[in-house]
Amino acid sequence: LHVAVLMGGLSSEREVSLSSGKGCADALEGQVARVSRVDAGRDLAQVLADLKPDVVFNALHGEWGEDGCVQGVLETLGIPYTHSGVLASALAMDKDKSKAVLKAAGVVVPGGGLFDRHAVSRTHVIPPPYVIKPNAEGSSVGVYLVREGEPPCAAPGEASWTYGEQVMVEPFIAGKELAVTVLGEKSGPRALTITDITPAKGFYDYEAKYAPGGSSHVLPAVLPPHVFEAAMRESELAHTAMGCRGVSRSDFRYDDVKDELVLLEVNTQPGMTPTSLSPEQAAHVGMDYKALVRWMVEDASC
Ligand code: DAL
Ligand code: MG
Repeated sequence: LHVAVLMGGLSSEREVSLSSGKGCADALEGQVARVSRVDAGRDLAQVLADLKPDVVFNALHGEWGEDGCVQGVLETLGIPYTHSGVLASALAMDKDKSKAVLKAAGVVVPGGGLFDRHAVSRTHVIPPPYVIKPNAEGSSVGVYLVREGEPPCAAPGEASWTYGEQVMVEPFIAGKELAVTVLGEKSGPRALTITDITPAKGFYDYEAKYAPGGSSHVLPAVLPPHVFEAAMRESELAHTAMGCRGVSRSDFRYDDVKDELVLLEVNTQPGMTPTSLSPEQAAHVGMDYKALVRWMVEDASC
């Protein structure tokens, strides 16, 4: 089997993808006949037409690699690929539309909504504390927390803001940050376990996600049994509602004072870096990194 691992790409998460891609390609060496490492650029269709891999392992994150565009190219070329297809990828990358679909499926999602970026930079469009985030980015790129008593956040109004004219503003949910990886098995989606994430400082931002020691992970998370069960069930429900394939990871906040579990988002291309959550969760249930990557290749289809 010849597997082409797509990594890098054109998004703000390029460095994260290079790390995910290296891990996945290294893990595939020796498990398949041939591994090609492809730094995905505008010439991707031509590169793949020349390489003629049996399967594409998509280790891209963010815009173009995770939002259905590359998936459409792979469909057009007729090459089986890992992770979600065109529709689920495009949907999951749009936080606002995802929330509508998840809500309709009975999953509790954050309030708030999309606002003009200039309005957000000038006024409190909802009462603080709240979180400002681009509608279609990952890895907490462009995410800001506005605490009670703080002025509005200037960043979305700046000329250098490249994350769209509309930004997502959601009430900040106090409590725990939780993540659940789901494998879309033939018998149905299977939630692996729950990680409780505590950032070393501030919130679970880019640095906390990728700097060694940036956050501490407790798995399985210590939660009241009804909350543990709800997060496992809701992540499987979300995987199905969004139409995901292969692996997905749902991120939650749990307010332990209000006993409220809220699903923030579903990630269709979860990170595979040394500090990433999904490989750690898979290992916890007896599936090491190599086995997880092999499972994804076996699951690949068009
Ligand atoms: N967007 C990053 C890669 C993640 O969700 O893991
Ligand atoms: Mg994300």
